[in-house]
Amino acid sequence: MKIVALVGSMSKESNNRKVAEFMKDRYKEDLDIEILPIEKLPMYNQDIELDPPEIVIELREKIRKSDGILFLTPEYNHSIPAVLKNAIDWFSRVEMVMINKPSMVVGATLGNLGTVRAQVHLRQILNSGAVATLNLPGNEVFISSIHEKLDETGKLVDESTIEYLDEVVKNFIDWVNKVG
Ligand SMILES: Cc1cc2nc3c(=O)[nH]c(=O)nc-3n(C[C@H](O)[C@H](O)[C@H](O)COP(=O)(O)O)c2cc1C
Repeated sequence: MKIVALVGSMSKESNNRKVAEFMKDRYKEDLDIEILPIEKLPMYNQDIELDPPEIVIELREKIRKSDGILFLTPEYNHSIPAVLKNAIDWFSRVEMVMINKPSMVVGATLGNLGTVRAQVHLRQILNSGAVATLNLPGNEVFISSIHEKLDETGKLVDESTIEYLDEVVKNFIDWVNKVG
């Protein structure tokens, strides 16, 4: 199953990227997860959407060919970071490649609420007409105090988080098989 991951952080030290890398490795038997470099996208501009830069076309094709989308989002000021919103805006225009694509959402934060508010916004965005992914209902993954759940190499080691992720990923695979 080919899954593209969109990580809402440009930081090389991103904790959400570390979670994405962890998932790519842990679920490699079932999922071929490719983390897309959405940080390379220019800011969306309607004036260039009909003749966009090559990177837009390249990533759009990867989404089109995928079986599903994995979103990993930090919380920035109670919402999703601009880099993730920008990517969603690009892929919701001209060729709306996210419509009816199965998706799931994960978020990690240093804070206590584990991206709850960012994810509420993200699910609302995913539900808009030109995005319209088929997002896995329920199965909310809010990873709080992420810095305490990684080892010194940046690998997720918190057992209860991993157990829960295993369950959600299994539900996601069932979901992709059912609706994809
Ligand atoms: C501009 C900015 C705004 C932030 N706002 C919030 C916030 O509203 N709630 C929260 O829990 N954490 C907030 N944080 C902390 C981030 O969630 C935390 O730095 C997180 O680890 C970033 O994700 P990353 O490590 O994947 O880059 C904010 C961080 C930045 C840089």
